[in-house]
Order: sequence, then structure tokens, then C-alpha cells
Amino acid sequence: MTALSIDAERLLGRLRDLGQVGRDSAGRLVRLAGSDADKAGRDLFVTWVREAGLDVAVDRIGNIFGLWKNDSGADRNPILLGSHIDTVIDAGIYDGSYGVLSGLEVIETLKSTGFVPARPLAVAAFTNEEGVRYAPDMMGSLVHAGGLSVEEALAAVGTDGTVLGAELRRIGYAGSEEPGFLKPHAYIELHIEQGPMLEREGVSVGAVETLQGISWQRVTIDGDANHAGTTPMSMRRDAGHAAARVVTFLRDRAGRSNTPTVATVGCMTFEPNAINVIPSRAVFTVDLRDPDEGRLQAEEGALAEYLQELADAEGVTVAVERLARFEPVTFDPRIVALVEDAARERGLASRRMTSGAGHDAQMIARVAPSAMIFVPSIGGISHNPREHTPDPDLVAGANILLDVATRLAAQ
Ligand code: GLV
Ligand code: MN
Ligand code: MN
Repeated sequence: MTALSIDAERLLGRLRDLGQVGRDSAGRLVRLAGSDADKAGRDLFVTWVREAGLDVAVDRIGNIFGLWKNDSGADRNPILLGSHIDTVIDAGIYDGSYGVLSGLEVIETLKSTGFVPARPLAVAAFTNEEGVRYAPDMMGSLVHAGGLSVEEALAAVGTDGTVLGAELRRIGYAGSEEPGFLKPHAYIELHIEQGPMLEREGVSVGAVETLQGISWQRVTIDGDANHAGTTPMSMRRDAGHAAARVVTFLRDRAGRSNTPTVATVGCMTFEPNAINVIPSRAVFTVDLRDPDEGRLQAEEGALAEYLQELADAEGVTVAVERLARFEPVTFDPRIVALVEDAARERGLASRRMTSGAGHDAQMIARVAPSAMIFVPSIGGISHNPREHTPDPDLVAGANILLDVATRLAAQ
């Protein structure tokens, strides 16, 4: 018997179409949460959901759900598929959108074949997974899982001074459903790997069994502005130099260790930001990740200690604010095994793996058995317009999602 397959052309066409929505004047894909570009992406997704004959529900944090309600088992908790459609700055077209559009594709495929599921299926596009404009990341799914109150999330102030709740109202996606209204029986998220492992090993499918812990902090260092030409080096309280020392401390420490710890300073601003003025203030972010909670705590501790030493040595003051903190997650072993089974049955090589990136699945795992499916990322490149996954891998991943969803929906 030939296995059922998704409509490859429809999925790939939608991925490309959505990838054109939210381009800035320089042609960069920038669909930050709550922006006009996000609205345009959401509108297109909702159009496709309606065309597929699904009901649309939007909750108060702006999560969009496409619900396939059918007569049998309508009162049972649904199988939820999904991811996010917000992006980073200058993004690729696959991160998030691939999982959302594949979820829709799977439901549309099942619907068109007359498949009668024992429980409903639904697709979700969660708000603000990237966390670029508003922290924390994975916000919509975190609120859905009850890990953050909707009021607190809506009050989040963005990097541009906007408030998320006001932006969601402005773009028409402050919905009326109470977050968490939909209780998934299980959640499966299909995503590009965003790392080099699968391509390097020539493996088509990642059965993701764990996801590493994430720590986001914002550090503010205050020194004194003074004249760049007249102030002797020994008399400076240079916030910029102190910040640079933190960057190299983190990089050297993570680079030297034999552990999988990764450390990134992705944002930095100086005040007054002038060529001939010693910086009076430096503000920067620290992203620390590790699959082991104990080690992640040790890394946070080492940074805190270094900042204290730095304050003494450089004569600056240091303040730290926590932006996000999520412990490592273990996914549901039964769903991970279903992913492996599906790959084997389709003749595809698979491997178990850890996710280096954060995902909505790590939040939904708090309230429902969850797992993820990865497909290869060429060169391990992501959060970059060169992000790429070959079409056959995209189609294969969506078919694995179809198989796993079908099995779960039949139970
Ligand atoms: C989300 O993309 C993250 O891992 O930062
Ligand atoms: Mn993503
Ligand atoms: Mn991302």
C-alpha cells in the first residue's frame, strides 16, 4: 500500500509566498511580533486556514488556531500541530513558518482523503516565539501553557518602546479566547534543525528528544562620559571597555570548556555613542544555553562573579535584569518513538537529538505530551537569509508529521 502524502507543491508554494510577506525596503524578511509585517503574515495564514475549511480562533495573546472539527470525537482533546510565523531581523523563510504551514498541510491532506480521526486536529501559530521585540521568547506558547499570565505578557515593553497588548489590538489580533482554552492531547512541532548535525551525518529526520536550557539577561554597565583625547587611561571609568571584557570573558570561557555550553552577546548599545566620548553606559544582552541545568546555573554563576570583579576593577556599576529563563526539557518518549517509526517506514534515516534552539514545543510540553521533528539545515545556517533546506527534505519532514499526527489522531 502506498503511504498517504501531503501536497508538496501546495506546501512549498505557501512557504515561498509567506516568505515574501514582511520584506523591508532593503528586501530583508523582518516579521517581528505585533508589527504590520506580522499582521500581513497572519492575514495570509488565516486566509489559507479558512480556505481549508477550518474554524479560526484567536486567543488574548494573539495565538491563532485553525480547528478541524469533525463529528467523531469532537468533544475530545485535539492533536495540535504548529510553531510560529514571527521572525528575527533579516530572517530566512523556514524558521517557524515550515512547522505552521506543514501542520495546516497535514490537516488539509487528511481532510481531503475522508480520514475520520478519533479526535480533532488543530494547527497553531504561536505569538512572539522569537522574542526579538518583546521578551521572553516563546511567549504565546508560554502563556498558553500557563507559565506567564496573559496580563503580564500583554504589558511587555518592546525594544522600540511599544507595548505588545496595544500592538496586538492595533493589528487586529488581540483575540477573545482565554489562553489555554484548547487543551492538546498531544503536540508535535516540525522545524528545520537550524544546526549542522543532520546534514553532516546525511540523516533526513531528527527525532528530537530533549531541548537545552536557555538563560537571557540584559546587563547595564555605568561609568563616566569624558573626553577621549584628554582623559588619561588610568582615570577612565569606561563602560564600553568593561562591556567588551564581558564579551571576551563569555566567549573564551565557552570556547575553552569541553561542554556544549554556548554563549552569545547579540545586542549592544553605548551612550552617548560618539567617537570622541568615553562611553558612560553600555547595555548588552547575554544568551547562555546548555542541555544540563546544573551546568547552566554554573555558567550564570560564573558570569555574576565576573561582573562583580569587573565592577571593582573598572570602577563601574553593573546591573543585571533577567529577560528569560527556561530549564532543559525532555520530550515525550512515545511520540519520539513514533517519529522514528515513521521515518523507518518511509525508508528515511533518523537520529535522536537535542534541540539547540528554543521552540514552542518546550512550553507546550508543560501541559501535553510533546515532541519535535527536525529536517536538515544546509550548512547549519539559521537566523540568516541564507537559511535553506532542500525541497525533498521539507516534503519528507511534512510526511513524517502526517504519519505521526495520523497515528495520534486515531487513538
Ligand atoms: C529561537 O529562535 C531561539 O532559539 O532563540
Ligand atoms: Mn523557530
Ligand atoms: Mn528562530
